[in-house]
Amino acid sequence: MISNSNKNDVIELIKGFLIGAIILSVFSATQKFFTYNKIVIELKFYIVPILFGGITGTIIKKLFIKRKNLIDEIKKDYEEMTEQKDEIEALYSQLEAYSQNIDALNNELNFNIKKYELIIGSISDFSITKKYSEKEFLSEIYNLIKDIIYKFDSGMIFIFENGFVKPIEVDGYDYKGLIDFKLEESIVNKIYPENNIYKIENSSIKLIIDQNRMDQFVKIVPNSKEILYLRLEFKNKLIGGLFLELDIKNNESYNENDLKVMEAISSIIESYYEANVYQEFEENKLIEIVEAMTNMLEFHDKYTKGHSLGVADIASRIGKYLKMSSREVNDLYLTGLLHDIGKTFIPYELLNKTDKLTDEEYEIVKEHPSNGAKVLQSINSLAKIRISVKHHHERWDGKGYPSGLKGDEISLETQIISVADAYDAMTTDRPYRKSLSKENAIQEIKNNCGKQFSPKICEVFLKLLDEEGFVNKELNRTF
Ligand SMILES: [Fe+2]
Repeated sequence: MISNSNKNDVIELIKGFLIGAIILSVFSATQKFFTYNKIVIELKFYIVPILFGGITGTIIKKLFIKRKNLIDEIKKDYEEMTEQKDEIEALYSQLEAYSQNIDALNNELNFNIKKYELIIGSISDFSITKKYSEKEFLSEIYNLIKDIIYKFDSGMIFIFENGFVKPIEVDGYDYKGLIDFKLEESIVNKIYPENNIYKIENSSIKLIIDQNRMDQFVKIVPNSKEILYLRLEFKNKLIGGLFLELDIKNNESYNENDLKVMEAISSIIESYYEANVYQEFEENKLIEIVEAMTNMLEFHDKYTKGHSLGVADIASRIGKYLKMSSREVNDLYLTGLLHDIGKTFIPYELLNKTDKLTDEEYEIVKEHPSNGAKVLQSINSLAKIRISVKHHHERWDGKGYPSGLKGDEISLETQIISVADAYDAMTTDRPYRKSLSKENAIQEIKNNCGKQFSPKICEVFLKLLDEEGFVNKELNRTF
């Protein structure tokens, strides 16, 4: 088969031959005319011009065809190259998009790593050695979430108490309105049945809350477009929940990652409750042991009956007033119960002697803080308490015993025990004297601020009495 282009080429070559032959024949005829002065039409005179002109015309045509083909080829190559250039440009754009995607993924990864670092860091903070009350713990958790998912506009962590929502930490909600509204646990469960990202219109909530309450409801809750909800559960029991809301004007949106972070937080919360159950069990056992030891002391020293409990009570209230952690307050309570445990080594007659002690006898009594510390030596969990037991007769001015510590060399806990011990001792009967009145005891504390007692703790204690004038429920005694 002859291709079309070849056919055209052949036609073009024939054209070239004919044109060349005609031109040279006409030229030859013209020459003959001038030579012979007449038109000569004999074939023999034209064979050479026809052949020579035809061949020359064919060659020229061939060259033209070659040139044309070359130009076509160059054009084709150019077009191909342009196409390839477009393709390369498209690939480059694609590559750039991939690169941007990788950058975005990388940023997201780094961001997530930071989030998880925060979570992991917090797990060690929430270890059982540093005990938080439920409220303190949930507040800490809420603050942790604020650091991790900071795009939310309003949020709340709460527990369910007697079937109603009790807010622990609140941002952007009307706290008082929420308390007054008394949002039922059953309603929260109906609206938010599981951990998820909710896009709930108020109209669908209307089906659950009646119109009257709905008017109040919309006033206390923020107008949000998305809510991230986490159920706080322990052993399949619902304890509370967490809301993180995005305002309708917020351009952000929650994603799977945010939900994963919340799931991780949920595991920390569950571990906390788990650890708490274990710790409570341990602590109850410890308190039982400490109470048994205190009972033993009170059996031995009839005048100190109730004194240990009084000191424990006052000291733990000072701790709470200073916003110390639950763990520290708990330790203050135990220290109060145990501070005089070393007195069990003092002979019964000496301890309950009503006459003035001799110098030798007084020296024996002065050994009770060190002996108390020795008694507690083998109980590791009471290591901190042991220090306060040993130093509860140290004085701010350095004139106390057994070590003669001064000022802040005495731990804060011991400074608290010291004031609590003195006040409770002054307001209860002793073998050698009757109790002082509250007013006189307060005056004594004031007189000894900066001498026997830490000025700061004195001030706190006096403020506490002034503000609360509280009643010691256990002893049914106002101090
Ligand atoms: Fe003592």
